[in-house]
Amino acid sequence: MYTDAVVEHFSNPRNVGTIENPNVVVKVGDPGCGDAILIFLKIEDNIITDVKYKVYGCAAAIATTSKASTMVKGKTLEEALEVTDEKVAEALGGLPDEKMHCSNLSATAIRAAVTRYMHPPEE
Ligand code: FES
Repeated sequence: MYTDAVVEHFSNPRNVGTIENPNVVVKVGDPGCGDAILIFLKIEDNIITDVKYKVYGCAAAIATTSKASTMVKGKTLEEALEVTDEKVAEALGGLPDEKMHCSNLSATAIRAAVTRYMHPPEE
């Protein structure tokens, strides 16, 4: 059901953890399945220098969050905003149709974190 790349990222997820003093931290959940991601970004000069996360979710949520983290680390904020669920799924060689929403969770979490950093809520 899963590609080798999905299994590999699920078995050995990259960038798991937390960042002390992150520039932004955001929690995003999928109300449909109850899965959730807490994502931390370190940003310097418009570049995402570090990304870490905690994910509570299915195998596809873990694999796609791992892959998405590698796709935005070292990238500009604008490049990170272009990481869509389709691109994450594609980078993993595809996902079963019923698991596409899992890649959406990871891409949404990254876009939410970048957007929050670019447009912080008024205090
Ligand atoms: Fe919800 Fe995969 S089943 S993220």
